[in-house]
Amino acid sequence: MQPLFQPLPLGPLTLPNRVLMAPLTRARSVQPGDVPQAMNATHYAQRASAGLIISEATQISGQGKGYAMTPGIHSAEQVTGWRLVTDAVHAAGGRIFCQLWHVGRISHVDLQPGGAAPVAPSAIRSSTQTYTSAESGLVDVSMPRALETDEISGIVEQYRAAAINAKDAGFDGVEIHGANGYLLDQFTRTGTNLRTDRYGGSLENRLRLPVEVAQAVAGVWGADRVGYRIAPTGTFNDMSDENPTETFTALAARLGAMGLVYLHVAEAFAGSVRDEAVMGAIRGAFPGVYIANGGYTGESANERIESGRADAVAFGELFIANPDLPERLRLGAPLNEPDRETFYGGDERGYNDYPFLEGSRAAVGS
Ligand code: PHB
Repeated sequence: MQPLFQPLPLGPLTLPNRVLMAPLTRARSVQPGDVPQAMNATHYAQRASAGLIISEATQISGQGKGYAMTPGIHSAEQVTGWRLVTDAVHAAGGRIFCQLWHVGRISHVDLQPGGAAPVAPSAIRSSTQTYTSAESGLVDVSMPRALETDEISGIVEQYRAAAINAKDAGFDGVEIHGANGYLLDQFTRTGTNLRTDRYGGSLENRLRLPVEVAQAVAGVWGADRVGYRIAPTGTFNDMSDENPTETFTALAARLGAMGLVYLHVAEAFAGSVRDEAVMGAIRGAFPGVYIANGGYTGESANERIESGRADAVAFGELFIANPDLPERLRLGAPLNEPDRETFYGGDERGYNDYPFLEGSRAAVGS
Protein backbone atom coordinates (compact mmCIF):
# COMPACT_ATOMS: atom_id res chain seq x y z
CA MET A 1 0.00 0.00 0.00
CA GLN A 2 1.22 3.54 -0.71
CA PRO A 3 2.37 5.21 2.51
CA LEU A 4 -0.18 8.00 1.95
CA PHE A 5 -2.97 5.46 2.39
CA GLN A 6 -1.89 3.89 5.65
CA PRO A 7 -4.23 5.08 8.42
CA LEU A 8 -2.70 7.52 10.91
CA PRO A 9 -3.58 7.72 14.61
CA LEU A 10 -3.95 11.38 15.63
CA GLY A 11 -4.78 11.69 19.31
CA PRO A 12 -8.24 10.18 19.76
CA LEU A 13 -8.83 10.16 15.98
CA THR A 14 -7.70 7.72 13.34
CA LEU A 15 -7.18 9.43 10.01
CA PRO A 16 -8.11 7.04 7.17
CA ASN A 17 -5.27 8.40 5.02
CA ARG A 18 -2.35 10.84 5.17
CA VAL A 19 -3.49 13.14 2.36
CA LEU A 20 -4.45 16.23 4.37
CA MET A 21 -6.05 19.45 3.18
CA ALA A 22 -3.89 22.46 4.03
CA PRO A 23 -5.37 25.70 5.36
CA LEU A 24 -6.32 27.89 2.39
CA THR A 25 -7.50 31.49 2.50
CA ARG A 26 -10.31 31.87 -0.04
CA ALA A 27 -12.02 35.06 1.20
CA ARG A 28 -15.58 33.96 0.60
CA SER A 29 -17.41 34.77 3.82
CA VAL A 30 -20.68 36.70 3.99
CA GLN A 31 -20.35 40.47 4.40
CA PRO A 32 -20.67 42.28 6.67
CA GLY A 33 -19.72 40.03 9.56
CA ASP A 34 -17.15 37.62 8.04
CA VAL A 35 -19.62 34.74 8.41
CA PRO A 36 -19.15 31.29 6.81
CA GLN A 37 -22.03 30.24 4.56
CA ALA A 38 -23.57 27.27 2.72
CA MET A 39 -21.18 27.73 -0.22
CA ASN A 40 -18.25 27.16 2.15
CA ALA A 41 -19.92 24.07 3.62
CA THR A 42 -20.25 22.62 0.13
CA HIS A 43 -16.59 23.34 -0.60
CA TYR A 44 -15.28 21.61 2.49
CA ALA A 45 -17.73 18.70 2.26
CA GLN A 46 -16.56 18.04 -1.31
CA ARG A 47 -13.08 17.52 0.18
CA ALA A 48 -14.17 15.30 3.11
CA SER A 49 -12.14 12.35 1.80
CA ALA A 50 -9.01 14.12 3.09
CA GLY A 51 -7.46 12.35 6.07
CA LEU A 52 -7.97 15.67 7.86
CA ILE A 53 -9.16 19.07 6.68
CA ILE A 54 -7.55 22.11 8.25
CA SER A 55 -9.81 25.11 7.78
CA GLU A 56 -8.73 28.31 6.14
CA ALA A 57 -7.10 30.76 8.54
CA THR A 58 -9.86 32.09 10.79
CA GLN A 59 -9.77 35.35 12.76
CA ILE A 60 -9.88 34.87 16.52
CA SER A 61 -10.95 38.50 17.07
CA GLY A 62 -11.70 41.69 15.20
CA GLN A 63 -8.15 42.78 15.98
CA GLY A 64 -6.85 39.51 14.49
CA LYS A 65 -8.26 40.32 11.04
CA GLY A 66 -5.89 41.26 8.25
CA TYR A 67 -7.67 40.60 4.96
CA ALA A 68 -11.15 41.48 3.74
CA MET A 69 -13.72 38.68 3.56
CA THR A 70 -11.78 36.11 5.57
CA PRO A 71 -14.00 34.36 8.13
CA GLY A 72 -13.91 34.80 11.89
CA ILE A 73 -14.81 32.71 14.91
CA HIS A 74 -15.52 35.46 17.43
CA SER A 75 -19.25 36.16 16.91
CA ALA A 76 -22.35 34.03 17.42
CA GLU A 77 -23.19 34.35 13.71
CA GLN A 78 -19.75 33.06 12.74
CA VAL A 79 -20.09 30.07 15.07
CA THR A 80 -23.47 29.27 13.50
CA GLY A 81 -21.93 29.63 10.04
CA TRP A 82 -19.07 27.27 10.90
CA ARG A 83 -21.64 24.77 12.20
CA LEU A 84 -22.92 24.47 8.61
CA VAL A 85 -19.39 23.58 7.56
CA THR A 86 -18.59 21.07 10.28
CA ASP A 87 -21.99 19.36 9.95
CA ALA A 88 -21.52 19.02 6.19
CA VAL A 89 -17.99 17.63 6.55
CA HIS A 90 -19.07 15.14 9.18
CA ALA A 91 -22.11 14.06 7.15
CA ALA A 92 -19.71 13.36 4.28
CA GLY A 93 -17.49 11.25 6.56
CA GLY A 94 -14.69 13.78 7.16
CA ARG A 95 -12.80 15.43 10.00
CA ILE A 96 -12.00 19.16 10.26
CA PHE A 97 -9.79 21.31 12.52
CA CYS A 98 -10.17 25.08 12.77
CA GLN A 99 -7.06 27.18 12.15
CA LEU A 100 -6.90 29.95 14.76
CA TRP A 101 -5.39 33.15 13.35
CA HIS A 102 -4.29 36.52 14.65
CA VAL A 103 -2.51 38.48 11.92
CA GLY A 104 -0.67 40.91 14.23
CA ARG A 105 1.01 43.58 12.12
CA ILE A 106 -0.27 42.25 8.76
CA SER A 107 -3.38 44.41 8.74
CA HIS A 108 -4.69 47.84 7.94
CA VAL A 109 -6.47 50.48 10.00
CA ASP A 110 -9.51 50.12 7.72
CA LEU A 111 -9.85 46.47 8.85
CA GLN A 112 -9.32 47.14 12.56
CA PRO A 113 -12.05 47.82 15.15
CA GLY A 114 -12.33 51.58 15.62
CA GLY A 115 -9.73 52.21 12.91
CA ALA A 116 -6.97 51.40 15.41
CA ALA A 117 -3.39 50.55 14.47
CA PRO A 118 -2.70 46.81 14.09
CA VAL A 119 -0.79 45.31 17.02
CA ALA A 120 2.61 43.60 16.95
CA PRO A 121 5.47 42.64 19.24
CA SER A 122 7.39 45.70 18.01
CA ALA A 123 6.50 48.76 15.95
CA ILE A 124 8.06 47.54 12.72
CA ARG A 125 6.04 47.89 9.57
CA SER A 126 6.01 45.07 7.06
CA SER A 127 6.53 46.04 3.44
CA THR A 128 3.77 43.65 2.35
CA GLN A 129 0.26 44.38 1.19
CA THR A 130 -3.29 43.32 1.92
CA TYR A 131 -6.75 44.10 0.64
CA THR A 132 -9.28 45.99 2.75
CA SER A 133 -12.36 45.28 0.59
CA ALA A 134 -13.28 43.43 -2.58
CA GLU A 135 -12.76 46.69 -4.46
CA SER A 136 -9.67 48.10 -2.73
CA GLY A 137 -7.01 46.27 -4.67
CA LEU A 138 -3.75 45.66 -2.80
CA VAL A 139 -2.84 48.31 -0.24
CA ASP A 140 0.21 48.65 2.01
CA VAL A 141 -0.29 47.27 5.50
CA SER A 142 -0.43 49.92 8.25
CA MET A 143 2.24 50.86 10.77
CA PRO A 144 1.63 48.64 13.81
CA ARG A 145 1.95 49.59 17.46
CA ALA A 146 3.85 47.46 19.96
CA LEU A 147 1.64 45.67 22.48
CA GLU A 148 2.07 46.75 26.09
CA THR A 149 3.19 43.94 28.39
CA ASP A 150 -0.08 44.06 30.29
CA GLU A 151 -2.09 43.63 27.08
CA ILE A 152 -0.58 40.27 26.25
CA SER A 153 -2.77 38.25 28.58
CA GLY A 154 -5.68 39.66 26.56
CA ILE A 155 -4.19 38.13 23.41
CA VAL A 156 -4.05 34.74 25.13
CA GLU A 157 -7.69 35.24 26.10
CA GLN A 158 -8.60 35.90 22.45
CA TYR A 159 -7.15 32.50 21.55
CA ARG A 160 -8.91 30.81 24.45
CA ALA A 161 -12.28 32.31 23.51
CA ALA A 162 -11.84 31.31 19.86
CA ALA A 163 -10.90 27.78 20.92
CA ILE A 164 -14.13 27.55 22.93
CA ASN A 165 -16.09 28.88 19.96
CA ALA A 166 -14.46 26.30 17.68
CA LYS A 167 -15.73 23.61 20.03
CA ASP A 168 -19.22 25.09 19.96
CA ALA A 169 -19.02 25.16 16.16
CA GLY A 170 -18.45 21.40 16.03
CA PHE A 171 -14.84 21.19 14.92
CA ASP A 172 -12.79 18.07 15.74
CA GLY A 173 -9.82 20.09 16.98
CA VAL A 174 -7.84 23.25 16.29
CA GLU A 175 -4.59 24.27 14.69
CA ILE A 176 -2.78 27.31 16.10
CA HIS A 177 -1.43 29.41 13.24
CA GLY A 178 2.14 30.15 14.23
CA ALA A 179 3.44 30.50 10.67
CA ASN A 180 3.85 32.85 7.73
CA GLY A 181 4.60 36.07 9.55
CA TYR A 182 1.40 36.45 11.56
CA LEU A 183 1.26 37.41 15.25
CA LEU A 184 2.76 34.32 16.92
CA ASP A 185 5.47 34.07 14.27
CA GLN A 186 6.22 37.78 14.78
CA PHE A 187 6.87 37.07 18.47
CA THR A 188 8.85 33.91 17.73
CA ARG A 189 11.40 35.24 15.25
CA THR A 190 14.22 37.70 15.88
CA GLY A 191 13.53 39.98 12.89
CA THR A 192 10.15 41.13 14.23
CA ASN A 193 10.59 40.87 18.00
CA LEU A 194 12.75 43.64 19.48
CA ARG A 195 11.00 43.64 22.85
CA THR A 196 12.90 44.10 26.08
CA ASP A 197 10.21 42.74 28.43
CA ARG A 198 9.61 39.06 29.22
CA TYR A 199 8.07 38.51 25.75
CA GLY A 200 11.21 39.36 23.82
CA GLY A 201 14.97 39.29 23.80
CA SER A 202 16.03 35.77 24.76
CA LEU A 203 14.78 32.69 22.94
CA GLU A 204 12.90 31.72 26.08
CA ASN A 205 11.13 35.08 26.06
CA ARG A 206 10.31 34.98 22.34
CA LEU A 207 8.62 31.62 22.83
CA ARG A 208 6.63 32.76 25.87
CA LEU A 209 3.52 33.95 24.03
CA PRO A 210 3.36 30.95 21.64
CA VAL A 211 3.69 28.61 24.63
CA GLU A 212 1.08 30.50 26.68
CA VAL A 213 -1.32 30.38 23.74
CA ALA A 214 -0.75 26.65 23.24
CA GLN A 215 -1.36 26.04 26.94
CA ALA A 216 -4.58 28.05 26.90
CA VAL A 217 -5.90 26.30 23.78
CA ALA A 218 -4.89 22.87 25.07
CA GLY A 219 -6.75 23.72 28.27
CA VAL A 220 -9.92 24.03 26.21
CA TRP A 221 -9.48 21.09 23.87
CA GLY A 222 -6.96 18.74 25.47
CA ALA A 223 -3.50 18.77 23.88
CA ASP A 224 -4.36 15.69 21.83
CA ARG A 225 -6.74 17.76 19.67
CA VAL A 226 -4.41 20.73 19.17
CA GLY A 227 -1.85 21.16 16.39
CA TYR A 228 0.54 24.03 15.67
CA ARG A 229 1.74 25.35 12.31
CA ILE A 230 5.16 26.89 11.70
CA ALA A 231 7.13 28.12 8.70
CA PRO A 232 10.68 28.00 10.03
CA THR A 233 12.51 29.36 7.01
CA GLY A 234 9.65 31.26 5.37
CA THR A 235 10.25 34.85 4.34
CA PHE A 236 6.62 35.61 3.42
CA ASN A 237 5.42 38.82 5.13
CA ASP A 238 9.01 40.08 5.53
CA MET A 239 10.10 37.48 8.06
CA SER A 240 13.58 36.54 9.21
CA ASP A 241 15.31 34.80 12.08
CA GLU A 242 18.96 34.72 13.07
CA ASN A 243 18.90 31.01 13.85
CA PRO A 244 15.85 29.13 12.62
CA THR A 245 17.16 25.75 13.75
CA GLU A 246 17.66 26.94 17.31
CA THR A 247 14.39 28.89 17.43
CA PHE A 248 12.14 26.22 15.98
CA THR A 249 13.70 23.13 17.55
CA ALA A 250 13.16 24.86 20.90
CA LEU A 251 9.54 25.66 20.03
CA ALA A 252 8.95 22.13 18.71
CA ALA A 253 10.37 20.64 21.92
CA ARG A 254 8.16 22.89 24.09
CA LEU A 255 5.02 22.05 22.15
CA GLY A 256 5.96 18.37 22.17
CA ALA A 257 6.47 18.39 25.94
CA MET A 258 2.95 19.81 26.29
CA GLY A 259 1.63 16.88 24.27
CA LEU A 260 0.41 18.81 21.24
CA VAL A 261 -0.76 16.23 18.75
CA TYR A 262 0.91 17.55 15.63
CA LEU A 263 3.36 20.02 14.23
CA HIS A 264 2.43 21.26 10.76
CA VAL A 265 5.46 22.57 8.92
CA ALA A 266 5.25 24.87 5.92
CA GLU A 267 8.61 23.70 4.64
CA ALA A 268 8.41 25.79 1.48
CA PHE A 269 5.92 28.57 0.88
CA ALA A 270 5.70 31.62 -1.36
CA GLY A 271 9.15 31.24 -2.87
CA SER A 272 11.10 29.94 0.14
CA VAL A 273 13.03 26.73 -0.45
CA ARG A 274 12.90 23.63 1.76
CA ASP A 275 15.97 23.52 4.00
CA GLU A 276 16.49 19.82 4.76
CA ALA A 277 18.84 20.41 7.70
CA VAL A 278 16.39 22.71 9.47
CA MET A 279 13.40 20.44 8.78
CA GLY A 280 15.27 17.35 9.94
CA ALA A 281 16.24 19.03 13.21
CA ILE A 282 12.65 20.09 13.85
CA ARG A 283 11.30 16.65 13.02
CA GLY A 284 13.77 15.21 15.54
CA ALA A 285 12.73 17.69 18.24
CA PHE A 286 8.99 16.99 18.07
CA PRO A 287 7.70 13.67 19.42
CA GLY A 288 4.20 13.90 17.91
CA VAL A 289 2.87 13.72 14.36
CA TYR A 290 4.86 15.75 11.80
CA ILE A 291 2.81 17.09 8.90
CA ALA A 292 4.86 18.28 5.94
CA ASN A 293 3.53 20.90 3.53
CA GLY A 294 4.83 22.82 0.55
CA GLY A 295 4.91 21.82 -3.09
CA TYR A 296 4.54 18.07 -2.65
CA THR A 297 3.30 15.72 -5.34
CA GLY A 298 1.79 12.32 -4.61
CA GLU A 299 5.13 10.73 -5.41
CA SER A 300 7.29 13.03 -3.29
CA ALA A 301 4.77 12.78 -0.44
CA ASN A 302 4.89 8.99 -0.47
CA GLU A 303 8.66 9.14 -0.51
CA ARG A 304 8.71 11.62 2.37
CA ILE A 305 6.60 9.36 4.58
CA GLU A 306 8.42 6.20 3.50
CA SER A 307 11.77 7.73 4.46
CA GLY A 308 10.46 8.69 7.90
CA ARG A 309 10.79 12.44 7.38
CA ALA A 310 7.04 13.07 7.73
CA ASP A 311 3.95 11.26 9.01
CA ALA A 312 1.47 12.99 6.71
CA VAL A 313 1.49 15.61 3.97
CA ALA A 314 -0.87 18.56 3.58
CA PHE A 315 -1.73 19.70 0.07
CA GLY A 316 -2.92 23.20 -0.73
CA GLU A 317 -3.25 24.09 -4.39
CA LEU A 318 -3.81 20.48 -5.41
CA PHE A 319 -6.78 20.30 -3.02
CA ILE A 320 -8.22 23.53 -4.39
CA ALA A 321 -8.43 21.99 -7.84
CA ASN A 322 -9.13 18.37 -6.92
CA PRO A 323 -11.95 17.75 -4.44
CA ASP A 324 -11.23 14.02 -4.69
CA LEU A 325 -7.45 14.38 -4.39
CA PRO A 326 -6.90 11.24 -2.26
CA GLU A 327 -8.69 9.06 -4.82
CA ARG A 328 -6.75 10.64 -7.69
CA LEU A 329 -3.42 10.10 -5.92
CA ARG A 330 -4.35 6.52 -5.05
CA LEU A 331 -5.13 5.75 -8.68
CA GLY A 332 -2.39 7.91 -10.17
CA ALA A 333 -5.18 9.67 -12.10
CA PRO A 334 -4.69 13.02 -13.87
CA LEU A 335 -5.11 16.16 -11.77
CA ASN A 336 -7.16 19.29 -12.50
CA GLU A 337 -5.14 22.50 -12.73
CA PRO A 338 -5.87 25.23 -10.17
CA ASP A 339 -7.08 28.58 -11.52
CA ARG A 340 -5.22 31.36 -9.66
CA GLU A 341 -7.69 34.01 -10.82
CA THR A 342 -10.36 32.55 -8.55
CA PHE A 343 -8.23 31.82 -5.46
CA TYR A 344 -9.38 34.88 -3.47
CA GLY A 345 -12.93 36.19 -3.28
CA GLY A 346 -15.87 35.62 -5.59
CA ASP A 347 -18.47 32.92 -5.84
CA GLU A 348 -18.70 29.18 -6.50
CA ARG A 349 -16.64 29.53 -9.65
CA GLY A 350 -13.16 28.18 -9.06
CA TYR A 351 -14.41 27.00 -5.67
CA ASN A 352 -17.14 24.40 -5.91
CA ASP A 353 -17.05 23.58 -9.62
CA TYR A 354 -13.80 21.62 -9.97
CA PRO A 355 -14.78 18.23 -11.36
CA PHE A 356 -14.55 14.92 -9.56
CA LEU A 357 -13.18 11.94 -11.46
CA GLU A 358 -15.67 10.35 -13.83
CA GLY A 359 -17.54 7.63 -12.04
CA SER A 360 -16.51 8.70 -8.53
CA ARG A 361 -19.17 9.96 -6.15
CA ALA A 362 -21.26 12.91 -7.29
CA ALA A 363 -20.17 16.37 -6.21
CA VAL A 364 -21.64 17.20 -2.82
CA GLY A 365 -24.26 19.91 -2.87
CA SER A 366 -24.66 20.21 -6.62
C1 PHB B 1 -3.14 34.95 2.65
O1 PHB B 1 -4.32 35.30 2.81
O2 PHB B 1 -2.46 35.35 1.71
C2 PHB B 1 -2.53 34.04 3.62
C3 PHB B 1 -3.21 33.71 4.77
C4 PHB B 1 -2.64 32.86 5.68
C5 PHB B 1 -1.38 32.36 5.45
C6 PHB B 1 -0.71 32.68 4.30
C7 PHB B 1 -1.28 33.52 3.39
O3 PHB B 1 -0.81 31.57 6.34
